[in-house]
Formats: sequence, structure tokens, C-alpha cells
Amino acid sequence: MTKSTKLRLLLALLIGLSSWFSPDLFAQTAQSVYLDDLDISSVQQGWASATARKNLRNKPITLGGKVYERGFCTHAPSEAVIILDGKALTFHAVVGVEDINADLAGVKPVIATIIADKKVIYTSSQLISGKSQATIDLPIKGVKLLELQIEGVGGYSHTHTSWADASITYLGAKPQMVPYPSDDKAEILTPKPGPAPRITGPKVFGVRRGSPILFRFTATGTKPIKFAVKNLPEGLFLDANTGQLTGSLGSPWNIITLTCNLEVEASNAVGTTSRNFKLVVGDKIGLTPAMGWNSWNCWAMTIDEQKVRAAADQLVNTGLADHGWSFVNIDDGWEAADRDSVTGILGTDQIKFKDMKNLADYVHNKGLKLGIYSSPGKWTCGKRLGSLGHEVLDAQTWAAWGIDYLKYDKCSFSAAIPVSPPTHYWHQFPYQVMQKALRGTKRDIIYSMCQYGEDQVWKWGHEVDGNSWRTTDDIIDTWASMRNIGFGQREAMPYTKAGHFNDMDMLVVGQVGWSDKLHPSRLTPSEQYTHISLWCLLSSPLLLGCDLTKLDDFTLGLLTNDEVLDINQDPAANPAKVIRQSAQEAIYTKTLEDGSLAVGLFNLDYDAKSIKVSVADLGLSGKYIIRDLWRQKDTGTTSKEITCRINRHGVALLSLRKQP
Ligand code: GAL
Repeated sequence: MTKSTKLRLLLALLIGLSSWFSPDLFAQTAQSVYLDDLDISSVQQGWASATARKNLRNKPITLGGKVYERGFCTHAPSEAVIILDGKALTFHAVVGVEDINADLAGVKPVIATIIADKKVIYTSSQLISGKSQATIDLPIKGVKLLELQIEGVGGYSHTHTSWADASITYLGAKPQMVPYPSDDKAEILTPKPGPAPRITGPKVFGVRRGSPILFRFTATGTKPIKFAVKNLPEGLFLDANTGQLTGSLGSPWNIITLTCNLEVEASNAVGTTSRNFKLVVGDKIGLTPAMGWNSWNCWAMTIDEQKVRAAADQLVNTGLADHGWSFVNIDDGWEAADRDSVTGILGTDQIKFKDMKNLADYVHNKGLKLGIYSSPGKWTCGKRLGSLGHEVLDAQTWAAWGIDYLKYDKCSFSAAIPVSPPTHYWHQFPYQVMQKALRGTKRDIIYSMCQYGEDQVWKWGHEVDGNSWRTTDDIIDTWASMRNIGFGQREAMPYTKAGHFNDMDMLVVGQVGWSDKLHPSRLTPSEQYTHISLWCLLSSPLLLGCDLTKLDDFTLGLLTNDEVLDINQDPAANPAKVIRQSAQEAIYTKTLEDGSLAVGLFNLDYDAKSIKVSVADLGLSGKYIIRDLWRQKDTGTTSKEITCRINRHGVALLSLRKQP
């Protein structure tokens, strides 16, 4: 081979190599990128969206008195996921709680964790606003998936945190910020209802003595379905075609609680079925958690009458109403700008809601119920007029309209009281005032307290007649938010009882968006199964927060599984128990009225894995039939243990019933 051929070959080899390698690598020049220049809209966090180069209050990023020009800010808990090609070199950031938090929420510490290819490579100490920040410099050579996580210590959420100066040096492809790469399939587990009638919905209903009853028996199966009720007391009427129960029982001077044991029958061309039903006439309402829809998580302040009518139509048209979804609740945004100058009545925003009474009639004619929203403060959270000083008048107005449910949201109330921070007395006070006002209407109005879990409301919510009380701040459609709320209920859990429930906030499945711009829930399919299973096991109200006109088959499947919904609506309303809980997995149980045990095995880990629990650890002994509730199938028997393979962030929801 001549010298010139050798040279040509060498050149070809170099050119070949240079086109084979990326130009950056060939050049071997390290580059650097600030993470705030990447797509930070994919950051998952507890509330709102991450911000670049400014903190969440649109002020300069400031940690421990030092201002940073670069970086991004999140509400804890948060997670940023960065895809690398193995050729990144270093990660640098200063992480901490924004100085602004010192005067906002008190000093709520957080912990930052960095995970490289599912292995923890860095954990900070507890970071405190204004006091401690962590400077991080890590080699990340070979890493393909980098996760930056911040958790509030003790599950506290909403802390404003910053990854100041966050940057990566790299040789190969530019790092990309993405949602967690998931290969989760939207598998529909719920079997389609068969043609034979099957009675659905709650097995118990409470009505106050003398109040008009509004309850509809529901069933699935080929239509038309006819209903009949055995032992129906005098004074009550059943519409056999719709299942609607009306009338009233007892008189105000009765002091006893009367339980009417009824037998409901549903029949269609295929067959007949029956089920026991308890009507409890006394003092208590809302004996099982409310199920329905609320306007906030989809429309927020853009709600109007057309959207409410559409939601009511869709509860019926999609068949959801046949599974017990019955409330149509209007959240903030319905209120007029001023009270009537003569009567003091707070009417509706006339551009959005022409006639609330007419709307209530429309909703009632469909066998559904209408809910409304207000605040004990001067202003609601959406800056509309609240009920402060007009509680009795407002309650009467709502009753005259035909309202069946009130969400009473604390919002600006703290500004109206003489003490700060509010004492226990002042936490209870506004809720007592409205409780008396509602009682005075002689209409059964479900009372839903929304004060974000302040003053450990789960300990006293029942004393002020709350049918439910929010235990946390607002949910959003991220794993971080749903997981933090869902698995952060251990303290509140034991206080659940019939008629008084911990409210873990509205559901974030389907199309949500808090505006008129909606997007599909960012929860993966497995996370959505976890969400519904957990809300059912913990007896939270089930209020859909999505646009019901855009329901897909997967979401419908999630919401129409009667065996899963029965766990939520179980008449015993027993509190759930924690059998085991760690950052990797959780096992919760709930004893049902028929003696069986509902068991949720939750995989909180990065990958699919098997979770095992012994029958003894579940507090049982003997032989049990295992039923997969999502698939509605018996899967075997056990007297020793159960093992289930579960998707990342997914669940196995089972029931164990004693083998005869
Ligand atoms: C929040 C409440 C939300 C929604 C909103 C309305 O305080 O938690 O669920 O009701 O107010 O302004």
C-alpha cells in the first residue's frame, strides 16, 4: 500500500468516525445548560406551575439573603425529570426554601433528593427558609435519568422552593426536561355491566325528620328498569320508572331515630334482583360520602349555567348517574357583584347564571342534586362576595332555590376576626353559625367544610355538623400532589364515621384545567387507579373535577366500577387502617359491613414490583377468598399470605372474605 493510500484511508476513517459520533463529542468540548432554559412546564409539583428565573411570587429567586439570576422554583412536593444520554458530566445547584416563605407559612422545612437512574445519589439535610440552603455539585457521568425531588417534611405541601443556579455540563446531547417516562397502558379493568339488573349506589340514606326526601334508587342493566320497594312507610312515594323517592317522614317533635328496613327491587326484560336498604329517619344526613361532580377542577371561575346543565346531562347520558354519581356542585364564580340593596339577598352573576331556581329544577328533574359554594368571610377565594353577616339570609335563599349541598370555604374569614392566629373557638365559630342557618331552613343540605385541615378539623368537624371537611390544601393532577394528599391522611383517618368524612379534595381524572383550557390528567393510568382506590378506601367524598362532556372510555371505566364504589359507600363507614407504609409501598385496609376486608396494596416505588402481606399482618386468621375488585373476579384463596405484582405507582385493590 502506498503512502498516499494509507493517508486517504486514515482520513476516511476520521471522517467516518466524525459522522458516527456527535459533533460535540468529536470536538470533546463540554457545554453547559441552565435548567431554567429547559421545558420546566413538565415539572410535577404540589400546586400551580414551576417558574423560571423568578420565584413563585414573581420576585427574584432569593435563598439565605442571596439573590440568584438563574434557576427555577417549585411548590413542594415537586419533581423535575431530566433525560441525559450518559454523556453529561456534572450537576450544580443551590437548593432551598425561598426566603419569602419565612413570613408566609412559617418555617416549614423540606428535604431535597437527587436520584440517578433510580438510585439516590444525594439527600439534603432539612432545609429551612432563610436559614439553610444546600450547594450541590455532583458528577453524573453515565446517568440517563436524573430526578430532582423536593419533599415537605411531615408531608407539608405548598412550600416555595428553588433550584437556584441549577445547571448541567455535558458532552453529548443537550439534556431534556420531560414528564417521567412511563410505559403505563390505559388498561380498562372494570367489566362492562351485564344486561341483568344490578342495584347500585348506597345501601343506606339518612333524612331529617320532616325534611323532604330526595333520593333516587339506581341500577345498571338493560333499560327500561322498573323499581319497587317493599315496606315503604306511609308518606313516601316511589316513581317506579325512575327509582325516585319523594315525600317526608316524621314530625319535628319526634326525638327518636327510626330505621326503616326496606327491600328494593329492580326488574327488566332479563330478570329481577333485590337488595336491602336502610332509610334512617332522624337527625343525620350524608351517611355515606357524597358522590358527584364539582365545577372547580375543570372550569374554576369560568363556570356558567350552560356548563352546569351540560354536567347534569352528562351524568345521566354517560350512565354515571346509574352508579350513584348524583351531585352537581357549583363552586366559586356564581355570585352577583353586589347584594340586593333592599333585601340583602346575594343573587347570581346574571351574565353566567340567569335563574338558580330554574337550574335546580332542571337538575332535580334528572334525579340529581344541586350544590353551591360560599365563604364565611367577606370574600370567597375567587374574590366574590361571601356570606359574612348574611348567613341566615343566604341559607334561606339557597333553600328556596332548592340547593342540596353547600361547600363552605374559609377563604377571607381570618381577616374578619379579632385574633391572629385564630384560636380553636374562632376556627369553629363560622362553621357553627352556618350550621345553625342551614338547620333553620328545614331542608337537608349536605354541609361540606373547606378549611384545608386547619386546627385538626377531623377532631371536631362532626361537632359543627360537617358532613365532610377538607383535610388538606387543593389537589392538582400530579403524582406528587395526589400521593402527598392520599398517603398523608394517617392522623385524620381514624376520625371517619357515618355522616362525617375526611375530604381529600376533588378527583383529578379526565380533562381538568382550572380555566377554560383543559388537558388530560397528568396522572398515569396506574396513578389514576391508585387515586380512585385510595379515595374509596378512605371514604372521601368522590367529586369529579373534570369536563364530563369529554369523558374517554378509560376514565368511564375508572368511575363505574360498582364493587370499588361500594367500598366508598359502605354503610359501616369504618375508618381505614394502615397496615404498613414506607416511601416504597403502603398497605391500607377497611373492614366492610358484611365482615369482609378491603385491602389496598400500593406500589409507591419507581418500578413495577411484587408486594406481599401475610393474612396475620392483616389482622385475620383462617382461610379467605381473594377478590380482585377492579376486575370483579375471585382470584384464589389464602390462609397465609397474598402476593401481587403491581405497576409503578399502581394498586391491587382486593377484598378478602372468609371461606365458609
Ligand atoms: C379554594 C378551594 C378550592 C376552590 C377555590 C374557589 O380555597 O380549596 O377547592 O373552592 O377556593 O375559589
